[in-house]
Amino acid sequence: MKLSEKQSQIIFRVNERLDRLFENDSPELLRESMKYSVKAGGKRLRPVLNILAAELFTDDTEENLDIACAIEMIHTYSLIHDDLPALDNDSLRRGKLTNHMVYGEAQAILAGDGLLSFAFEVMLDNAMRHKGNLEREMRAIKTIANAAGVEGMVAGQVMDVSLENTSYGYDTLSYIHTHKTADMIVGALLSGALLHTDDEEALRALRTYGEHLGHTFQIIDDILDITAGEELGKSRGKDVMEGKITYPSLFGIVKSFEMAKERTKKAIEALSVFGDKACYLKEIAEIMLNRSL
Ligand code: IPE
Ligand code: IPE
Ligand code: MG
Ligand code: MG
Ligand code: MG
Repeated sequence: MKLSEKQSQIIFRVNERLDRLFENDSPELLRESMKYSVKAGGKRLRPVLNILAAELFTDDTEENLDIACAIEMIHTYSLIHDDLPALDNDSLRRGKLTNHMVYGEAQAILAGDGLLSFAFEVMLDNAMRHKGNLEREMRAIKTIANAAGVEGMVAGQVMDVSLENTSYGYDTLSYIHTHKTADMIVGALLSGALLHTDDEEALRALRTYGEHLGHTFQIIDDILDITAGEELGKSRGKDVMEGKITYPSLFGIVKSFEMAKERTKKAIEALSVFGDKACYLKEIAEIMLNRSL
């Protein structure tokens, strides 16, 4: 099966499950505003990585599906909050108006809060339905909490925002990229695998792949902020306007792309322990390097 077909299959399952999960008794305004951003589109990279990592060890990824959806909810919450006037102040996301432009700032903050807590509720419900696999379920959930939290994505966001309009170098930029972006990508991969394996070598390889993929992803995000066309579906030219240090601002676009290419090579090398089984993950790394949205 081609990667595009494989991705479509996973995204179809994830979207169907997300629809089901959003059939709950939350206030209509909250549900509508959460769904507005979750269903706005998006590449669904993290849920796809979660399922593909699981498929390195099992043919049956049903147990992963709620976790894959929860990861997309956490990612979407991070985007809603990232776009707020107090953070990046963006009006376009996934080709649509940002959440706060439609629902106002208060509701956008609450939609993010809702998505974050709902994600953990969904994962814990899933764990309780799989009591025979409870320890692995807990390890997976802990990994996601860690990736999203105060030593993970939120840590990266704090540095990104608090250091706006200051001058800093590669080490700090690298810290920001590791945490704001790579951590959730690593978390998606590891949690996918952790439900099915304890193999430390395999987990280490996935982590290394995810770290390099995560950095590549953010380097390209920084480049696209300068070079992309309208198809990007989000505001462009904003990093300079917001006073962010980025790869292109430190190294220029050409060198930045070379650095992303080097990272991609290392990501793919890390997959060698899996042989042909990792062909989809390998191709995703190549596609993420050359993406235009
Ligand atoms: C955007 O993530 C935020 C970053 C970490 C750069 P994506 O580019 O994966 O956004 P969607 O999910 O496709 O909208
Ligand atoms: C944000 O990075 C990463 C998140 C944790 C949301 P950016 O601020 O560069 O992401 P975009 O460009 O707004 O998608
Ligand atoms: Mg940001
Ligand atoms: Mg932003
Ligand atoms: Mg960006």
